[in-house]
Amino acid sequence: MTTAAPLSDAYINDRRHVFHSWSAQGSLNPIVVAGAEGSWFWDENGKRYLDFASQLVNINIGHQHPKLVAAIQEQAATLCTIAPFHANAARSEAARMIAELAPGDLDMVFFTNGGAEATDNAIRMARIHTGRHKVLSTYRSYHGATGGAIAVTGDPRRWPNETGVSGVVHFWGPYTYRSAFHAHDDQEECERALTHLRDTIMVEGPQTIACIILETVVGTNGILIPPPGYLEGVRQICDEFGIVYIADEVMAGFGRCGEWFAVDHWRVTPDLITWAKGSNSGYLPIGGVVISQKIADTFKDRQYPGGLTYSGHVLACASVVASINIFKEEGIIEHARMLGTDVIGPALTKLQENHPSIGEVRGLGVFWALDMVTNRETRAPLVPYNATGADAQPMNELAAACKEKGLWPFTHFNRIHVVPPINTPVDEVLQGIAILDEVLDLADARYTG
Ligand SMILES: Cc1ncc(COP(=O)(O)O)c(C=O)c1O
Repeated sequence: MTTAAPLSDAYINDRRHVFHSWSAQGSLNPIVVAGAEGSWFWDENGKRYLDFASQLVNINIGHQHPKLVAAIQEQAATLCTIAPFHANAARSEAARMIAELAPGDLDMVFFTNGGAEATDNAIRMARIHTGRHKVLSTYRSYHGATGGAIAVTGDPRRWPNETGVSGVVHFWGPYTYRSAFHAHDDQEECERALTHLRDTIMVEGPQTIACIILETVVGTNGILIPPPGYLEGVRQICDEFGIVYIADEVMAGFGRCGEWFAVDHWRVTPDLITWAKGSNSGYLPIGGVVISQKIADTFKDRQYPGGLTYSGHVLACASVVASINIFKEEGIIEHARMLGTDVIGPALTKLQENHPSIGEVRGLGVFWALDMVTNRETRAPLVPYNATGADAQPMNELAAACKEKGLWPFTHFNRIHVVPPINTPVDEVLQGIAILDEVLDLADARYTG
């Protein structure tokens, strides 16, 4: 007879006192994480997990990177925090480095505590810059959970948060595999998605639209890579109608797509870029907006009506500086690109050959998705859109089987995303994909095609 280990204080106090995100509080059973290193973390009983989710797709350079930890310790010993209205070496350097990496004349940085506040502030800038109110965003999108950011979010997390905020209009972005436009290939999808966007602008009134906010590569809602020409087309439409183009790179930026910013892949220059997660691998909360000259100029002689006590937090800024330096010293962007083209892409394609339940493999860099189906012909998803309870069981059992085997997966709706830290060694990536190979038999058993 085995006896269960006694519950730790960490567990007991969590259940009594910690109110968790996105959850019915009564149904939670969190693992207690005791430590982490590189692409691994472990619980208090010593069970180890290969982090194929990078937590929330933010630990881009892995857990406890020694140089990043040291940089934070060093900054903490010098100056932990200072109000945003002072200048400070760490903050100035973080802004300079980000401006240097950003495309075009995006040369100024407004710092926030994370992605949602970056969304809110980018929209605020666009509205004041244009003197217009409406915001366009896609249905399959996530832009954060503050009042403003959740209103522009396209996915079901918006539904319980809707307060009737006016001026947000959702439209369909490109997604060739599940095309809203009945397109057969990327070229058709691109043309039709751009026509749809033009039509949406026409009926909403171009002179009322402040901005279009787009995840450069849609993250949580499916790793949706824009077809060739789409982002260029959006840029053109924005120019034509004087609309601000905001690229949300909170998840896709900082190497996740094998580029510093994902827009670099298509050589498109937005007016504003929002960033957060991968900038410092989440070691401290930070995010921000990179701002083009013309929008920065709007606020040259006019007050910017927004701010945060922790805007440009010194410790967090020091960690961004250190993290960018680590990227450069360790060739992390190049590694991410190589993982995508030479390792993850080919390995997942092979997986698809062995598992009928994988409808589509798509991705770039270290940003990949398996679109799971019960029928390749009809593309019927393994679970319905936004499934819960028994409907979600086929995906839940896949996730549970991964965890059982020591792989921490990222699942969303009918998809498994492959999003480990972008500096994960090749053998560990293959180790994780081998576990996926084992558990996918469960999904194949539900295949009816
Ligand atoms: C594309 C995108 N934008 C914005 C956010 C919100 O970021 P945060 O959770 O840091 O507020 C997220 C978070 O997952 C995201 O994926």
